[in-house]
Amino acid sequence: MHNDIGSIVLTEEQIQAACERLGKEITKDYEGKFPLCVGILKGSVLFMGDLIKHIDTHVEMEFMDVSSYHGGTESTGEVKILKDLGVSVENRDVIIIEDILETGTTLNAIKDLLAYRKAKSIEIVTLLDKPSKRKVDIEAKYVGEKIPDDFVVGYGLDYQEKYRNLPYIGLLKEEVYTK
Ligand code: PRP
Repeated sequence: MHNDIGSIVLTEEQIQAACERLGKEITKDYEGKFPLCVGILKGSVLFMGDLIKHIDTHVEMEFMDVSSYHGGTESTGEVKILKDLGVSVENRDVIIIEDILETGTTLNAIKDLLAYRKAKSIEIVTLLDKPSKRKVDIEAKYVGEKIPDDFVVGYGLDYQEKYRNLPYIGLLKEEVYTK
């Protein structure tokens, strides 16, 4: 598996440092509150696990799975809910946890849905941000690393469902996706 990686974008140490920094910021901002942390499956699972260990206040964990219709003409609301939340978000401080923010289509639709369901506040934390890919006007309050528009895998991010279990984030060798 490691042989398929051409170069490393974020090492394990860099990822853990980002989790610690973001966890501290979130702890400060949510002290005395009880935020509902919503991980978006499947990519966010590893990041969520590491991040919340650094959030030093009470949090509740929930998950949502959505599939986005990339390439559609509509930029908002175009997601299908595959797994919905198990609790109400009404009057809750929600923190959406993502592995990567690209066009913004997915997060924009989720944010709209949670606002419609009367969440008290909605913020986004993403490990990776590709601002050059953005099609929808949405930003994450908490960002681990801004990266260029390269196809990255590892630490939750997949290529054909593989590489999610890599402890670091890297670029695939070209021969892996052209064969
Ligand atoms: C990825 C990622 C985000 C979304 C970002 O999920 O986890 O949810 O795409 O893209 P966007 O900003 O252009 O909407 P994906 O649909 O690949 O699902 P996965 O996490 O299960 O791999």
